[in-house]
Amino acid sequence: MVGQIPKELVEELRKAKKIGVLTGAGISAESKIPTFRDAMTGLWASFSPEELATPEAFARNPKMVWDWYAFRRDMCAKALPNPGHLALAELEKRYEQFTLTTQNVDGLHQRAGSQRVFELHGSIARVKCTDTGRLLEGEIPECDEPPPLHPETGGLLRPDVVWFGEMLPAEVLQESAKAARNADVYFTIGTSALVYPAAALPVEAQRAGATVVEINPTETPFSLLATFSLRGKAGEILPALLAALDD
Ligand code: APR
Repeated sequence: MVGQIPKELVEELRKAKKIGVLTGAGISAESKIPTFRDAMTGLWASFSPEELATPEAFARNPKMVWDWYAFRRDMCAKALPNPGHLALAELEKRYEQFTLTTQNVDGLHQRAGSQRVFELHGSIARVKCTDTGRLLEGEIPECDEPPPLHPETGGLLRPDVVWFGEMLPAEVLQESAKAARNADVYFTIGTSALVYPAAALPVEAQRAGATVVEINPTETPFSLLATFSLRGKAGEILPALLAALDD
């Protein structure tokens, strides 16, 4: 062990050429972004995510859904990348092939400097036309009643996130699956490994022969399959891993 990092893992990482990563809400916990369910506090305490994050909810009450996302967008904009995000951006620089797939919509990986990021669940920083999917360029307007319209298409604007019951962006999923199948080392970080199809990515990597590393303070359904299960916070383990590589 080098600190809390197994020596065998350091050796694997030194040999590796292709790295794949899947992240979830846990990597942003240390940036004080509450997970989806934890965010249902204060004004929003009486709602469930299913009441706010579905196409049906938006059709029923677009202003309420818009306001919920505006509240979270503001929270994400004020948050800062933490040492876990920064360590992943640094790790990317050291590999010929590095693909990061995130289930988070907060944009913190990109703000930390990560280059090749696939957003499986979209981005809270973007809005798009409900009818055509065309993204809005420029600043997101304040909400009126009903929410603003796309200036070119005239359709109602909505957050560019994947709601319950919606398809994931096909190309993002394809690239993520390819990266999982090709990886020498695959990381699954801060995700409960419950929500599919994201949860299938580390399984695919493992089946294709990758060394799979889980970083999470608690056990998940994937823990037993992982080659290395590192119990702890991403913001502590990832910098320790970089330090072990430099040792
Ligand atoms: N470092 C690493 N992992 C952490 C940390 C931390 N500091 N803090 C918490 N975790 C772990 C938790 O133990 C948990 O396993 O992060 C995981 C968060 O799990 P979820 O809240 O289920 O988040 P996620 O896996 O991203 O959920 C997937 O479900 O709610 C939907 O669309 C939403 O993208 C989300 C998806």
